[in-house]
Amino acid sequence: MSKTRIAVVVGSLRNESINRKLAIALAALGPQDFAFEHVEIGDLPLYNQDHDANPSEQVKRLKAHIAASQGLLFVTPEYNRSIPGVLKNAIDHASRPYGQSAWNGKPAGVIGASGGAIGTAMAQQHLRNVLAYLDVPTLGQPEAFLQYKEGFFEADGSVGEGGRKFLQGWMDAYVGWVKRHQPG
Ligand SMILES: Cc1cc2nc3c(=O)[nH]c(=O)nc-3n(C[C@H](O)[C@H](O)[C@H](O)COP(=O)(O)O)c2cc1C
Repeated sequence: MSKTRIAVVVGSLRNESINRKLAIALAALGPQDFAFEHVEIGDLPLYNQDHDANPSEQVKRLKAHIAASQGLLFVTPEYNRSIPGVLKNAIDHASRPYGQSAWNGKPAGVIGASGGAIGTAMAQQHLRNVLAYLDVPTLGQPEAFLQYKEGFFEADGSVGEGGRKFLQGWMDAYVGWVKRHQPG
């Protein structure tokens, strides 16, 4: 049986990114028939519309990855009350040329963690705005604004008991959302 492919876009390039760890921990809560595949965004050039007609190999790879997926999972930190530039850059790349967006219609989930009290809420709202324009149906509830604290992750990378139940509920809703948006 073929798996439902989820393109995981992490909005941080940092080696020790808590959001990448979160993305990995979340994938472990997904069902067996879902494959969570991380999208490389760190080597993309800065978006320049002049290159739309002749995109780089990295951009072609990005668009092919998104096109081959049946769902999207955005796991992002908040930078200055918005999404990191690297994430916006990747979104812009795969949205072009005009009329050839790779994002169109792919069901998405948005989640993120930061040390701040509102746990990426502002970044997620900004991201939802962008995704709405790109015609990406995005899971509305439950919202997940995660405040990172010492002990958030267990030594094996899983989320500690306190957060795990909540995240399992989030993942179950996300899986239902992705399934509901599959053609046929
Ligand atoms: C440029 C920059 C801006 C930041 N702005 C915010 C912010 O607006 N809100 C917030 O909660 N944390 C903010 N932070 C702190 C990040 O949440 C924290 O560095 C987090 O660990 C980043 O996620 P990562 O570990 O996945 O890289 C900012 C960090 C940086 C580097």
